[in-house]
Amino acid sequence: MILVTGGVGYIGAHICVELLSDGNDVLILDNLCNSSRITVERITVLAGARPSFIEGDVRNRPLLERIFTDYPIDAVVHCAGLKAVGESVREPLRYFETNVSGSVNLCQAMADAGVHTLLFSSSATVYGECVQMPIDESCVLGQPTNPYGHSKLMAENVMGSIARSDPRWSVGLLRYFNPIGAHPSGLLGEAPTTAPNNLLPYLLQVATGQQKELSIFGDDYPTPDGTGVRDYIHVMDLAGGHLKALDYLQRNSGVHTWNLGTGRGYSVLEMVNAFERVSGMNIPLKTTPRRNGDIAQCWADPGKAARELSWCATRNLDEMLRDAWRWQCQNPHGYEVDNLYPNTSEPEDVTMIRLVRSADALFRPNTTRDANKTIT
Ligand SMILES: NC(=O)c1ccc[n+]([C@@H]2O[C@H](COP(=O)([O-])OP(=O)(O)OC[C@H]3O[C@@H](n4cnc5c(N)ncnc54)[C@H](O)[C@@H]3O)[C@@H](O)[C@H]2O)c1
Repeated sequence: MILVTGGVGYIGAHICVELLSDGNDVLILDNLCNSSRITVERITVLAGARPSFIEGDVRNRPLLERIFTDYPIDAVVHCAGLKAVGESVREPLRYFETNVSGSVNLCQAMADAGVHTLLFSSSATVYGECVQMPIDESCVLGQPTNPYGHSKLMAENVMGSIARSDPRWSVGLLRYFNPIGAHPSGLLGEAPTTAPNNLLPYLLQVATGQQKELSIFGDDYPTPDGTGVRDYIHVMDLAGGHLKALDYLQRNSGVHTWNLGTGRGYSVLEMVNAFERVSGMNIPLKTTPRRNGDIAQCWADPGKAARELSWCATRNLDEMLRDAWRWQCQNPHGYEVDNLYPNTSEPEDVTMIRLVRSADALFRPNTTRDANKTIT
């Protein structure tokens, strides 16, 4: 059985579907601080198998001890964490407590239970303002530009140290570049609970009229069109990388680091143009000064993952944007199913099955600016 912390969050949910579909038993631990219990039902429908679910906190050591006693856990995928950069600047202690202390707590409980296989959701933010492009895993780790980045790097260092001190550990540090997109059914996706910080969730909210316009933070970067360049990766490709990495960790001890990206960067303007083409929507833009801490460009060298894991991203930018737009059209209010079907009195799993069956009918690209209309 695989324990997935943060398994009902955006990335964790996609990983759970892939793990269950591959025949694994899955236990999710999530405190639901940035997610919804409904996601468990959607994972179940998509995977055709139900994960076990415990609502709880990775900082709760007695709870973790009980979990490792009660369930036959072989490996842990550790996605639970806080991820909003701006919030981390305002509330650094909260970020260190969850992302660092929570990780230490989890590692201690794993060590006590004799479970030594751990895959960690890290981030390209640990590279800081790396000047070398593309970025490979041997790049000297820079100074992350915010407390969120520091917390990910500190957690990486904790896990790397324990793996180097005890040969029973197999630790994988997955440095995600920019995960976007959604499950192609439109049932799983990113559901920001506050105003989004990242480009695509914000762009989706502009497309549905929830935000007025998209701010481009700086058009004078040394990039081909002056706007920032990032390596966007489909969340399904990202989830697939976890299965490959877990398989590798089962056969190899020590600490291993892999970039999960496509190796191709897109500028903000390229993203907007591609989204307008895929969705048929018009995105009002406003150019504003650069944001502190933003870097001009960042894309991965994913060669190490290709060589060691036989993994590479296969979905292109249009698929990322189409799947994200489908998710947004079907779920304009995130996981609040009641808002989608206000009069329904059927059980949640029946609603989910109906949602899956009607997924294609619900998705009508190039139609209306009002996403609500597509689901009435
Ligand atoms: N989304 C990205 O762009 C991105 C990029 C790089 C790395 N990451 C990392 O990937 C991981 C998952 O990111 P995501 O985008 O799915 O975020 P998310 O917020 O959607 O998912 C995180 C999940 O962890 C849960 N959680 C938070 N604190 C917890 C705690 N103390 N105990 C138990 N559960 C807790 C939340 O409820 C949520 O369900 C995070 O660790 C994040 O730092 C994300």
